[in-house]
Amino acid sequence: MSPGDGGGIATGLRTWAFSLAATVASNYALDACAAVAGVALVTSGLLAGLAQPWAVALLVVSYAAWGSGLWVNLRANWTLLVATGTSTSVLSKAAYDLTRHATSNARAPRLAAAAGYAGTQVAAEVPYYVGAFGAATVSDAITADEAVIFLAGANLAAALYEYGLARLTRAFLRRRRPRRYASFETDWVPAQYLAGYYRTVEPDELATIAFFVAAIRRAERDRPILFFGVGPTVHHVFAAAEVASEIHLGDYLPANLTEIRRWIDRRPGAHDWRPFVRYTLQCEGIAHPTDAEVTAREDLTRSKITQLVRVDAHHPRPVDRPYATVISPYCADSATGDRATWELFMRHITGLVEPGGLFVTAALHRCRGYTVEGKLFPGADIDEHDLRTVLQAEFEPFDGSIEVRQTAQDTSHGYSAIVLCQARRRSSSSPTGGERLTQTEQLFQPDG
Ligand SMILES: C[S@@+](CC[C@H](N)C(=O)[O-])C[C@H]1O[C@@H](n2cnc3c(N)ncnc32)[C@H](O)[C@@H]1O
Repeated sequence: MSPGDGGGIATGLRTWAFSLAATVASNYALDACAAVAGVALVTSGLLAGLAQPWAVALLVVSYAAWGSGLWVNLRANWTLLVATGTSTSVLSKAAYDLTRHATSNARAPRLAAAAGYAGTQVAAEVPYYVGAFGAATVSDAITADEAVIFLAGANLAAALYEYGLARLTRAFLRRRRPRRYASFETDWVPAQYLAGYYRTVEPDELATIAFFVAAIRRAERDRPILFFGVGPTVHHVFAAAEVASEIHLGDYLPANLTEIRRWIDRRPGAHDWRPFVRYTLQCEGIAHPTDAEVTAREDLTRSKITQLVRVDAHHPRPVDRPYATVISPYCADSATGDRATWELFMRHITGLVEPGGLFVTAALHRCRGYTVEGKLFPGADIDEHDLRTVLQAEFEPFDGSIEVRQTAQDTSHGYSAIVLCQARRRSSSSPTGGERLTQTEQLFQPDG
């Protein structure tokens, strides 16, 4: 899935304008607090006559306090950047944005954002040094000890300021108005989704399909494979056609399944998935797939799709049987804006994987919403750590099983990365639920 939207540039400019204003305001406020505190500590005479070693010790303590305040604020700044794309330091935002586009390393943007933020603060310290010791050097009215006390006072105020700003940032994030999301039941139009997201193979799908092709090599051959939350799409399904004995496609909306049915039946208006088939074959090692090879894979896929089923991830047992392989791309995370509901959906979906079976998934990274024709659909705002946490009780981690991929797409919708994951269910565990089917509605049986 790869959102594109005309409002992107405007939103991007807004995040820069906000960051610039916040940086100016924050730097002025910090300077005012630090200078006033430093001067006040000197002029109050509280520490007059303090022996030099103690003054230096105080300076060291004040730096430690400042460092720890800075550390707390770096974390708040990171959360602010990820959630809103804004920062109280433009340098931090610039470093974050640049690194996200330049590298696929998930830690790099965080380190760059921290370096940008801390670098600004450390640079801002220089005038204090120059001012304090310069004044002590050129004027008899200010002693070196007073300069040290001034700096200690300024540092302590800066520490308090960093703590305060971190609290303010977190309060701002907590109080942001909850988003009003469009409804799947009334606002979702499959044709709009297909037109907006699947005209070409976008960067996130390049990454997702390549990952799925590799992951499906671990799937048990000649067993049915379930795709959960497939939407009106089949672009992930081509990768499973050679491995699966049958392919079962599940989605919440009958309209999505009808769209897939249109493609299976080769009816007029069916979506053209051939670019995705071609790319899937390339990922499998065919450098230049011929038209005949693309058609053969389409035909094989059509022949393997034996069930279209209506599923609801709210249901503890959304399908009445377990599967050796369950693939669920951009479903649980893109079906709800609520973290607890996402966890519930994940439990219900992964509960369909039989012991020793394979679960493959993809999710939007830290996304609070994605647009389809200007309508905002929900994002659960999750990341790789959340995914690992929900899986770890029942699934074995293995090397490379969770990846974050920067997709270098417009960040204005709240994400610019995806999380890809494959995991194997522990042999000792059993699928959750156990209730018989009450929910699944068989919409399509090819021979029925
Ligand atoms: C963003 S679409 C993803 C579709 C497809 N997997 C893709 O990658 O393009 C999210 C899907 O979640 C489905 N969905 C919404 N609520 C759901 C629920 N309660 N249970 C299962 N699926 C749901 C929607 O019907 C929609 O097809």
